[in-house]
Amino acid sequence: EETDKGPYPYYMLKEVDEQPNVMRKLASTYTDESGKDTLDPELVDAIKSADRIHIVGAGTSYHAGLVGKKMFEKLTHIPTEVHVASEFAYDDPLLTKNPFFIFLSQSGETADSREVLVNVNARGFKSLTITNVANSTLSREANYTLLLHAGPEISVASTKAYTAQIAVEAILAKAVGMAKEQVTAEDFDVRQQLGLAATGMQAIIDEKETIEDLAKEYFVNATRAFYIGRGIDQTVSLESALKLKEISYVQAEGFASGELKHGTIALIEEGTPVVGIITQAKTAGLTRSNLQETLSRGAQTLTIARNGLKKDDDTIIIPDIDEMITPLLSVVPAQLLAYYTSLNKGLDVDRPRNLAKSVTVE
Ligand code: G6P
Repeated sequence: EETDKGPYPYYMLKEVDEQPNVMRKLASTYTDESGKDTLDPELVDAIKSADRIHIVGAGTSYHAGLVGKKMFEKLTHIPTEVHVASEFAYDDPLLTKNPFFIFLSQSGETADSREVLVNVNARGFKSLTITNVANSTLSREANYTLLLHAGPEISVASTKAYTAQIAVEAILAKAVGMAKEQVTAEDFDVRQQLGLAATGMQAIIDEKETIEDLAKEYFVNATRAFYIGRGIDQTVSLESALKLKEISYVQAEGFASGELKHGTIALIEEGTPVVGIITQAKTAGLTRSNLQETLSRGAQTLTIARNGLKKDDDTIIIPDIDEMITPLLSVVPAQLLAYYTSLNKGLDVDRPRNLAKSVTVE
């Protein structure tokens, strides 16, 4: 039974463990054996002709959108903006002639996102919903739907929906990039990369006992923690901090590592855990020196580093993968750190206080 916890104490751990299979499922659903996408050509065409892409989401889905922006801009060269759904109306973004809207929503029912879609429909713009729930409101009301095929996500803290959203965005961005001749099949073999993501995730999951030890040592007794990184790693720092906050109640912040010194570093005290996410060759050295700055102010530093960039004293090594989709791997240790922190604090991992799985009020 898909909704049965089986041997797992909590759904969250089950859902973290399911991620490698979700990657394989998405690769086989949306690409053929040659690696070419099997998406609706009409959808690819609609995005191809857009002069701007707007991604809209809330919570974890918004964080998946931040990763999507980087992939869409790199692979399609279409300027892409990401919006927190509840802020869209107030940001009042200046719209171009032919924008395309992508809604990210695990449940397909988030009221804040739906409000934007109603507005987008009223203005006659084209839209796609990427969701885990067929026939959900956001799916029915958008022009196109791509399903996440992640199976029911029951734990309030979203895990497999985030990685599935990133995988679908990667497939879509590649398809549009190919159609626009901005990228070739070989430049970014998304099917092969999702296969690497699946085996890489499994390798990290297989180390869960080590991650539990780290959670006990660094986070269970912490009142505050930081995740830092640059570029795509900064977006993962936001999601990593959110995971920790929502289920373990440790006040956590995800931060652009270079921005710390402009104020936030004042919060670093003796023993404050700071995790550096290091997956990009271009920024690895800089993030390491920013970590060093926190260390010299008393922080306990940890790293989640990509194998190709590893140093002897790194804490968690994640396997190599195309730099564009490293969030598929770098987020997994953060999900597990949050899980084990919550578990070892004796909290109800799947049902954190004050939160709902799907928020249907604005
Ligand atoms: C709620 C959930 C979050 C989720 C957000 C957006 O706040 O607790 O985990 O990220 O809604 O939900 P959606 O279903 O639109 O992705």
